[in-house]
Amino acid sequence: MLRKDGPMRIVVMVSGGGTNLQAIIDSVRDGQITNTEIAGVISNNKNAYALERARENNIPAMCISPKDYVSREEFNEKLLEAVNEFSPDLIVLAGFLVVIPPAMIERYRNRMINIHPSLIPSFCGKGYYGLKVHEAALKRGVKVVGATVHFVDEGTDTGPIILQKAVEVHSDDTPEALQRRVMEQAEWKILPRAIDLIANGKVYVADNRVIIRE
Ligand code: GAR
Repeated sequence: MLRKDGPMRIVVMVSGGGTNLQAIIDSVRDGQITNTEIAGVISNNKNAYALERARENNIPAMCISPKDYVSREEFNEKLLEAVNEFSPDLIVLAGFLVVIPPAMIERYRNRMINIHPSLIPSFCGKGYYGLKVHEAALKRGVKVVGATVHFVDEGTDTGPIILQKAVEVHSDDTPEALQRRVMEQAEWKILPRAIDLIANGKVYVADNRVIIRE
């Protein structure tokens, strides 16, 4: 899937620090991700440091905030318009914490991926995002956590799973320390890897499950 002439164009959508965006930028630069061009970055938050990272790397970046529109419908329309303008082959949600407009899910089915900081189906779904995921994992006392890259469907964190990576919990972990280790050991590795696999036509979806043919 997704093969065409020229590199795969991706749009990365962000809300915050953008360390996953940075991992993608670095991986494209050092050749860990091949056949891929970062066409643009879209944030819902004008203060997101991720926007700085994009600008520093000469990647077109813009903010589309729900606060600037009178209704959710209008925001959803503008967001989809902004995404479409980049003509992406793949949308990458890299810490994008806004509900995705249904029309966007439909249009980019199996062409939009998300990184989630847990081993789905643990600690996912409504209310589980960012640090809250790691707080919940520590509260439950699990010994292994991790991250998941999946395609986006209508549910919250329910789409076909592409890659997962496990990370050990330490007995003295704080949510912040665990979040950092999950990013370093899992997120920053599997998100670039998933993009590279897709860019090189190695990812297929059948029966709501992903098959990787390397
Ligand atoms: C990441 O840990 C990502 O997995 C998480 O937000 C963080 C963004 O960090 N995403 C979610 O929780 C989605 N439900 P970053 O801006 O430094 O990449």
